[in-house]
Amino acid sequence: MKTVLALETSCDETAAAVVRDRTVLSNIVASQIDIHRRYGGVVPEVASRAHVENLGAVVAAALQDADVTWADIDGVAATCAPGLVGALMVGVTAGKTLAMLHSKPFLGIHHLEGHIYASYLSQRALQPPYLCLLVSGGHTSLIHVQDCGQYELLGKTRDDAAGEAFDKVARLLDLGYPGGPVIDKLAAQGDPTAFKLPEGNISLPGGGVHPYDSSFSGLKTAVLRLVQSLQDDGIDPMPVNDLCASFQETVAKGLTKRTIRCAQDYGLTTIAVGGGVAANSGLRQHLSAAAAEQGLQVLFPPLKYCTDNAAMIGCAAADHLARGHQSDFKLGTRSRMDL
Ligand code: KG4
Ligand code: ZN
Repeated sequence: MKTVLALETSCDETAAAVVRDRTVLSNIVASQIDIHRRYGGVVPEVASRAHVENLGAVVAAALQDADVTWADIDGVAATCAPGLVGALMVGVTAGKTLAMLHSKPFLGIHHLEGHIYASYLSQRALQPPYLCLLVSGGHTSLIHVQDCGQYELLGKTRDDAAGEAFDKVARLLDLGYPGGPVIDKLAAQGDPTAFKLPEGNISLPGGGVHPYDSSFSGLKTAVLRLVQSLQDDGIDPMPVNDLCASFQETVAKGLTKRTIRCAQDYGLTTIAVGGGVAANSGLRQHLSAAAAEQGLQVLFPPLKYCTDNAAMIGCAAADHLARGHQSDFKLGTRSRMDL
């Protein structure tokens, strides 16, 4: 059994958690969304400063909530990549300092490995191999999870990530930031068949489409053109609910098709979904229905583990620690890094 104090500061959530293997002892997240909302997106410099201001209290709360002392902690982990470099540096530096001070091993964890491990927090019996659909503000990936540290990237986005598409479409509809939750809410009151939009497929040179890769920038442009043409036609008010519902339906259908195809091609019977867009009700409905039809199991972690949190980082770190892994204290941070 390994107990880890984990920190996550890769973007706009300042988070700390204490995790014992796959059990969450505490999970504290201080969201900066309200700070960044006024800028319409995450401002890196502002994020770093807020992490510096918040992290001390967040770590103290995580230790207190877990009711542990330093004697109970086997290691300290922090997200080291990918993400906003200045933001990552706050967590990594704090993590290393705490580890040094208390003579514990330090582990730098890849943010996407954390999102993969989020599934274990609610599904403790889950074991590889399985397919992970990771859909967040920065990624849209289909990952063949083979073992701890062994991941094969089977599908990715060629441009915008799924969450980024939600955020950009929300911005062009003047719905604020972040876009996913508000589009999800408005979509529930709209007609998903109102407008036909492109599903974000990648055309192959010889004809046909790439089975697993996505492209969402064309879809975002299609929504923009649609809005402009509705304006040109003098449509007022704008059918925002129908636009949201049609956009969400298109993203959900495209992702579902590619995910099911990928699982079948690789003979994987379990699909674990992670990242902020895993919260999307359209994706949940479509993927659950399609998986059930094909006899596949699909797992959606609870919302608190889908969006950025430190419990998922701690869970990954505990597994690495149990296998004798640890990071060098010279470990740096990287804005981009393959899994
Ligand atoms: O995983 P996450 O918290 O952070 C990243 O690592 O990016 O994901 C944030 C993204 C944002 O783009 C947000 O708009 C999207 O997840 N999101 C949603 C929903 N809730 C959050 N997208 C669609 N539907 C939702 N309900
Ligand atoms: Zn994330």
